Amino acid sequence: MTSDRWDIPVTTALGSPYAVRVAPGVVEELPELLSRLAPADAYALISDDRVFGFHGDRIRALLSRAGARVVVKTFPHGERNKIRSEWARLTDDLLAEGIGRDGCVVALGGGVTGDLAGFVAATYMRGIPVVQIPTSLVAMVDASVGGKTGVDVAAGKNLVGAFHPPRFVLADPELTSTLPRLERSQGLAEAVKHGAILDAGYMAWVRDVADQLLEGEPEATARMVARSVELKAAVVSEDETEAGRRQILNFGHTLGHALEAASGYRLPHGSAVAQGMILEALLGERLGVTRSGTSEALAEALDAVELPTRVNDAPSPEVLIELTTRDKKVRGGSTRYVLLEAPGRVDPGTGWSRVVEGETVRDLLAAECPRAV
Ligand SMILES: NC(=O)c1ccc[n+]([C@@H]2O[C@H](COP(=O)([O-])OP(=O)(O)OC[C@H]3O[C@@H](n4cnc5c(N)ncnc54)[C@H](O)[C@@H]3O)[C@@H](O)[C@H]2O)c1
Ligand SMILES: [Zn+2]
Repeated sequence: MTSDRWDIPVTTALGSPYAVRVAPGVVEELPELLSRLAPADAYALISDDRVFGFHGDRIRALLSRAGARVVVKTFPHGERNKIRSEWARLTDDLLAEGIGRDGCVVALGGGVTGDLAGFVAATYMRGIPVVQIPTSLVAMVDASVGGKTGVDVAAGKNLVGAFHPPRFVLADPELTSTLPRLERSQGLAEAVKHGAILDAGYMAWVRDVADQLLEGEPEATARMVARSVELKAAVVSEDETEAGRRQILNFGHTLGHALEAASGYRLPHGSAVAQGMILEALLGERLGVTRSGTSEALAEALDAVELPTRVNDAPSPEVLIELTTRDKKVRGGSTRYVLLEAPGRVDPGTGWSRVVEGETVRDLLAAECPRAV
């Protein structure tokens, strides 16, 4: 990590490779990159109302410099709007505007916008190009790699969607200047996870510069985004289809998802994953798979980025265990866990995860999760 700008290649089995370009101010390169990598007859800028209010005019002006027609569509911010009816409305709006097969969607916003606008692009006239301009740390460090798009349905989150890799991604930390500190913390959960599974030095660095990252200091933020994208891209490029080593990205997510679901999705994803990572590190330590002290090192990093490291008001162990068996990553009825060997190293287990007996998980939860009274 020596320069102040990064061009990180992401290879995907479905679709062409693309680059995530990271640097403070990089959004100014939009007109030139569009002309070169995503030439179109018309650009449909899709954003949520909140992000559009902060950055819409600037991005619209940059888009019009690419020399094509620009159409703007917004939707109300929030996860609750990442749904089929918004997909349908946006799609109908683009049809009404006469956007054709030579159109291109530009998604400006957090992960909700990226997923929703990406899914509009994936399905519009059987697929038109999309360019992603993530504005939250979650969208920059996580959603910008892998090409997943989709919406939530009553049966669960992200259950309807498509792989639709973007033409390119522009991650400009300056756009996060308007992001609330709490949202910044949420994105840093995945950054700590990338360090925990792949690069102990990176995890320690995130801990050490946590204040700068929480303040949104552009150089530190760019460095963090670039390293996370590099780490995730290396794993995803190996294995596009979620089997195999890609599973290591689920570290902290088995119990994290259970905590999230048990809270009725009131617990934000990053906070749930922070608690899940601590519990799964403790689980590994109990099993003698994870070097002791690993959960403490993780807790120091998570604490520094203002994420919770203790589970309070947890539901019963039985409820949580039941929820882990509903996770889509469960294979053959038993719950598999990605366990660490030490900070920065995943236990190879059998296929990068291992089955853990319900009894062992129950004992851990009984010891570590104080019940609500
Ligand atoms: N496709 C993938 O691979 C992938 C990966 C991770 C997460 N996701 C999805 O991403 C979503 C979560 O992403 P998120 O946390 O970015 O949610 P989000 O898009 O709802 O953004 C969170 C909030 O921050 C606001 N916001 C975003 N950028 C801002 C900025 N620069 N200034 C001010 N406000 C800003 C948004 O309006 C919203 O209110 C979930 O739906 C999740 O499923 C997808
Ligand atoms: Zn996650």
